[in-house]
Amino acid sequence: MRSPEESTFSMRISVIGCGYLGAVHAASMAHLGHDVVGIDVDERKIALLSSGEAPFFEPGLPDVLASSIASGRLRFTTDFAAAAEADVHFVAVGTPQVADGDAADMRYVDAAFSTLLQHVKAGDVLVGKSTVPVGTAARLAEQVESTVDGATLAWNPEFLREGFAVKDTISPDRLVYGVPAGDAGQRAARILDEVYASAVATGTPVIVTDYATAELVKVSANAFLATKISFINAMAEIAEATGADVTQLADAIGHDARIGRRFLNAGVGFGGGCLPKDIRAFSARAKELGKGEALAFLSEVDKINLRRRDRVVDLVREEVGELAGARVAMLGLAFKPHSDDIRDSPALDVAMRLAEAGARVIATDPEAVESASRRAPQLEYAASAEEAVRDADVVVLLTEWPQFTGLDPAAVGELVAHRSIIDGRNCLDPAAWRAAEWTYRGLGR
Ligand code: UGA
Repeated sequence: MRSPEESTFSMRISVIGCGYLGAVHAASMAHLGHDVVGIDVDERKIALLSSGEAPFFEPGLPDVLASSIASGRLRFTTDFAAAAEADVHFVAVGTPQVADGDAADMRYVDAAFSTLLQHVKAGDVLVGKSTVPVGTAARLAEQVESTVDGATLAWNPEFLREGFAVKDTISPDRLVYGVPAGDAGQRAARILDEVYASAVATGTPVIVTDYATAELVKVSANAFLATKISFINAMAEIAEATGADVTQLADAIGHDARIGRRFLNAGVGFGGGCLPKDIRAFSARAKELGKGEALAFLSEVDKINLRRRDRVVDLVREEVGELAGARVAMLGLAFKPHSDDIRDSPALDVAMRLAEAGARVIATDPEAVESASRRAPQLEYAASAEEAVRDADVVVLLTEWPQFTGLDPAAVGELVAHRSIIDGRNCLDPAAWRAAEWTYRGLGR
């Protein structure tokens, strides 16, 4: 059966790297009607994906995986040679932060291209999707052109959000193609238009540009989003010193269409596998280019963001008096709701710091308990909010899952030892909690 978005023109695609980005991309491209092989070195991941199971929590992904595998259009393998059957090759491997600095670790990208190039033929288009330091595509293009005559590199950054990854991939809000000048670049752009035919047909803006611009679009978009969040969190610091309410302030300035209300939610700040490492890698790259000053503000953005975590620890200490021995219920572990991702999660970081200071932390999250318990075995884990809050001296909400924002203050009040709540995402109604005799503390309100 054809899916509604399915394109009439089927391409043969390989996707190298089946992590978050790659697994979603492979499944979504097959859903659109293309023939796709996903390739990864991780045997466990490939086995899971082959059986139609997503190795991480992502709404909608299991359905798209299962239907695409059943249709025969999607398969996964650890054998790189399978790329030889495809004509368009997406590289979607990770670029984590290096262990000893701020820069991006390019080992996986470089290895992926070197191996892929052994299986590529003239006319093939290689498409970089990974988030990379500006200048990477130009360097890799030389390698592509000198290894396989007639193969072309394009850079096509990805803007998907975790939690909405399938939707964002199938219906992106824009497409960016970085291509070389001349006929080869134009041909690569035409081929990408065919890959994304359904989105192009519905009028999705397509920006065809050079490599450097395409690479910069990605990192500057994430830098802007991080800056917007840290801007409002800086206002939260000022609000705390003046008695103002940052949520009302955000509502008021957000009505100005030039500013906009989205990404102005003050709280414990941003985390995840992208924003934090991307602003650091971008700053590191600017320094290499002799333009460190231009992005000096991003180090302030990072510091403001990390200070919010200190603020939550301080608020907990203020509420319980002495952290050692205090019983803290932690609602949320994932870096944001609708995800099980705990990479650089503010919630998990705060939980670990409280535990290190001697608090007894009982944490819960609808999806992230399993991954968090592997990373932080020193915490105690509960299966539900009701279980976590039992006899708590203070309740700390750091990931705004609907399961937590919908809690009834009166009912929860019956379970805790002290009615004290810290709303680290400013997602609760202070009046309702205060009316149920809770001490409510938000951030910047
Ligand atoms: C982010 C970008 O939003 C995507 O466009 C991009 O493609 C992706 O990174 C990437 O580079 O792969 P994601 O990491 O899934 O997506 O998460 P976001 O929804 O951007 O949230 C990031 C963090 O900011 C979360 O911890 C969230 O809680 C926090 N946040 C978000 C706030 O603290 N306040 C806000 O108003 C919004």
